[in-house]
Amino acid sequence: MLASRTSARERRMTPTFPDVTISTERLVLRPFEEADVPELTAMMNDELTTAWTSVPVPYTVVDAREWVQRQAPRERTAGRGLVLAMTEHLTHRLVGTMHLKCTNWRSLTTEVGYVVAPWARGEGYAAEAVLALAQWLFRDQKFERLELRTAAGNTASQQVAQKIGCISEGILRNALIVRSRTEDGGWADIRTDLIVWGLLPEDLEDAPETGHRAG
Ligand SMILES: CC(C)(COP(=O)(O)OP(=O)(O)OC[C@H]1O[C@@H](n2cnc3c(N)ncnc32)[C@H](O)[C@@H]1OP(=O)(O)O)[C@@H](O)C(=O)NCCC(=O)NCCS
Repeated sequence: MLASRTSARERRMTPTFPDVTISTERLVLRPFEEADVPELTAMMNDELTTAWTSVPVPYTVVDAREWVQRQAPRERTAGRGLVLAMTEHLTHRLVGTMHLKCTNWRSLTTEVGYVVAPWARGEGYAAEAVLALAQWLFRDQKFERLELRTAAGNTASQQVAQKIGCISEGILRNALIVRSRTEDGGWADIRTDLIVWGLLPEDLEDAPETGHRAG
């Protein structure tokens, strides 16, 4: 009786991504650690990140600690997605975050969001990390679709999507709230359009090898 109840519960268990570390040519994508809190706090207190994402403003050490200790691990264990810290191979510095979210285990589809620290932008880090993550998702996890959603005005993020071979699939009009600076130096919410980008395994056939290794 006990055995059959256990197996029924197991069948109902939510699937989750593995607790993975992915290496690329220049980056290591790994779970967040307590030691990342100061660099994460600094990275999130940035104009572009405030403008294009929904992070708390200001982003405090308490926010970073809550993210590292509770919210990020919970994304994985609840089956919603996976949060990875992006670090430089050579220096071990935190250069950004990658967040798989809204994962659908029946359709094997998921969405990626990302932030790169201001000092590390323009080096191709976001594109390198998303490409490696996509290759891992399609090859190791047998996923069928990766989605990116960018604000209509977020040129850098659209460049990332284009560089890795995503197809722009459409515009969700008026679907997103972003933030804009006000005259008194504060922030105001404004409504904008959202561009949906899709990447399928076949879109990556001609993509450069990231040399990604998962462990
Ligand atoms: C979006 C973001 C992650 C990109 O990170 P990154 O590591 O600099 O990205 P990459 O270097 O891989 O690519 C960025 C590309 O955009 C280009 N770019 C950056 N700002 C640009 C601008 N204002 N206009 C045109 N192109 C721009 C860069 O030149 C680069 O293209 P290139 O490689 O052809 O030169 C980073 O800007 C960021 O953290 N922004 C704030 C948070 C955010 O917007 N997250 C995404 C939410 S959807």
